[in-house]
Amino acid sequence: MSRHEATWSHDEFRGQAREAVSQFSRRPVDPAIWDSFARGLFHSSGQFEKPEGYKRLADLLTEVDRERCTGGNRVFYLAVQPSAYSEIVERLGKCSVVNGRQPENGWARVIVEKPFGHDLESARALNAQVATVFREDQVYRIDHYLGKETVRNILVFRFANGIFEPVWNRRYIDHVQISAAESIGVGNRAGYYEEAGALRDMVQNHMLQLLALVAMEPPIAFSADAVHNEKVKVLQAIRPVSGEEVPGSTIRGQYGPGWVDGREVLGYRQEEGVDPNSSTETYVALKLLIDNWRWADVPFYLRTGKRLPKRSTEIAIYFKRAPLLLFSGMDASLEPNVLTIRIQPNEGISLKFHAKEPGMTVRIRSVNMDFLYGASFAVQPPSAYETLLLDCLEGDSTLFARRDEVESAWAFITAILEGWLDLPKPAFPNYEAGTWGPDEAKLVLERDSRSWRRP
Ligand code: BG6
Repeated sequence: MSRHEATWSHDEFRGQAREAVSQFSRRPVDPAIWDSFARGLFHSSGQFEKPEGYKRLADLLTEVDRERCTGGNRVFYLAVQPSAYSEIVERLGKCSVVNGRQPENGWARVIVEKPFGHDLESARALNAQVATVFREDQVYRIDHYLGKETVRNILVFRFANGIFEPVWNRRYIDHVQISAAESIGVGNRAGYYEEAGALRDMVQNHMLQLLALVAMEPPIAFSADAVHNEKVKVLQAIRPVSGEEVPGSTIRGQYGPGWVDGREVLGYRQEEGVDPNSSTETYVALKLLIDNWRWADVPFYLRTGKRLPKRSTEIAIYFKRAPLLLFSGMDASLEPNVLTIRIQPNEGISLKFHAKEPGMTVRIRSVNMDFLYGASFAVQPPSAYETLLLDCLEGDSTLFARRDEVESAWAFITAILEGWLDLPKPAFPNYEAGTWGPDEAKLVLERDSRSWRRP
């Protein structure tokens, strides 16, 4: 379905698909495998708002069921502009592809791309509307971060090892930093990004999901509901940042012109499709607290931005310092132990600790114990979308966001958005492309006598 109809024959569509796969696949495509796969590709086009397209789709699916014994099973993937979600879901509900379906006639699932709403109210409305057509167990709200190998490994790291759980709490952890830095700019997505901004685009979904995985309690089982239950509890325990606290706990930024990777780049306001007076943020830093027994008083600092010096997404767990400084020369300036989970690039985990430098005197230096995915497992991991699509086909929604998870995340984000509306317009641009964001972002940590980790 699209706004405009593109009518291809099945063969033309297969040709288009072949080209796209060759372009994006990280491995050469085996022609024999492709041919057998392509025989299962069909095309039917229609416009979002016109019922005929849905009718054609329903007829085609019935035919495919008959020819290929697909058992009436369907996944509808809403990879379209968010404003069209409601209409498509409603129309799917009205046509025979979803409605009146008995389980013995196969299953129907819907994947909804982000952004799922643009604030709490719209997310609730969309959830309510989707629920009129699909049961919650049929809805797969996608967040591609959850399909990344390194993100999936967070739960394995925490709960398949016995040594971390005892120290994973306020007694031993001083604070946590979650950073998602990007060197790219807004690219050709200005239309979407102008409406979204970094808080909605990255924090509401990807970063709060990372936070939930790091901070959740052990689930009672590795099943979708058990994992979602624990993630929701964390999201609901985040202390709201609203009203007067907003300026102190959140910093916004927007990049101006500068240099990235030795290349001169435009400022955000000069990018194609961006309002020259835009006050959309391309950078956010914020501090939050989680009000539960595990995390009371442990700050979580989050930051994300575009046109930063390099691409780096990581979670750094800062441990409390040793209680007694026995060694002369081991002064307070020595960094504490830090466990860093590198989501991308250089995927891996490292633990920073102190060691004695070889020699007659006791001199102490920080060293790293490092695990690198590339070196330990000499295999190329599947892409996040490969993992998530397969999970959806298999009916496993563990790595998707449940209704209450999305709404809890939006509740926290919407309070900040409302706080920003009450503030004077920010003086943008306030950081040069190729730098680590606005200077004020440092203050969020400096006020707590801490500093951002340099990725
Ligand atoms: C998307 C955002 O969800 O995630 C983009 O809309 C962002 O703005 C992207 O660039 C980052 O994803 P990744 O996988 O490159 O970290």
